[in-house]
Amino acid sequence: MPSLLDLTSQGDVGTITDESKLSTVTLMDPQQLYELWERQNWSSHTIDLEQDRRDWLAMDEELREQLSWNLSSFFIGEERVTTQFSGLVMAYESQSEEAFLATQQVDEARHAQHFNRFYEQVLGIDGSFEDRLAKAREDLNPAFIEMFDGVLVDWGKRLIADPADIEAKVDFVTLYHMIIEGTLALTGQWVLTDYMERNSILPGWVEGFKLISQDEHRHVAYGTWFLREKAKDPALKQRIASRLTELIPLAAGVLVPVGADPDDYAILDYTMEETNTFAFNALRRRLKVVGIDMASLAAAA
Ligand SMILES: [Fe+2]
Ligand SMILES: [Fe+2]
Repeated sequence: MPSLLDLTSQGDVGTITDESKLSTVTLMDPQQLYELWERQNWSSHTIDLEQDRRDWLAMDEELREQLSWNLSSFFIGEERVTTQFSGLVMAYESQSEEAFLATQQVDEARHAQHFNRFYEQVLGIDGSFEDRLAKAREDLNPAFIEMFDGVLVDWGKRLIADPADIEAKVDFVTLYHMIIEGTLALTGQWVLTDYMERNSILPGWVEGFKLISQDEHRHVAYGTWFLREKAKDPALKQRIASRLTELIPLAAGVLVPVGADPDDYAILDYTMEETNTFAFNALRRRLKVVGIDMASLAAAA
């Protein structure tokens, strides 16, 4: 099984193999990440989904149901992270950071567009964008709802109420960039893309998802840069650690398929252990860059 180290991760920390170097690695700053966005721009509406439609129709019902939970979590997730991002754009502290954050919001909108198009053209769900979101919502698990309709929305509102509230900004980036993107989204993207490629199915979806993953690595790179800057203040460093201790159990719940045993489940043909190892190793490595040791978090919990 490939590890995170094998992924293309421009701007992110995934290509660093010597863990002792993580705490001193040079990170791209918001200006460099903005310029990387210009070079990596892409279009969701030109991806060919014809073969995907044929693959979906030929798929057995059980696999379609398993994929529905995964795909719907991404579709709703991308819609949520687009609409709940505005407070962070308002909280910029430099012109370069504002430029980068504006690109991240449009990236998330593009990701939601890719899924909307896939649900319309491949799954054949007619009606409006909103109708397809409503249909996808039927597939979600309770932990997902709590994270994306509860915590994300509440913490986003705190930032909108006062964009200069640095504690609210640190909380939001910890949830959004470290947990939702760096832990959950990149794990799901890796699992799903690997599965589709091994089974030679849904090539248009894979093409779009690889481009989405490239965007997500750029987003996570920003979050890692931001938190490392703020963690120079011991009180904020402690705050990031406390928020992570609160959020990690909820994040583990988001990875459990609907109706599955939370202590013994599989996502497609990946065991719970494989999925969790991938997800939390990626988080642990990024936290090392920020200057936080996940082992001490576990001890404090
Ligand atoms: Fe996204
Ligand atoms: Fe993202």
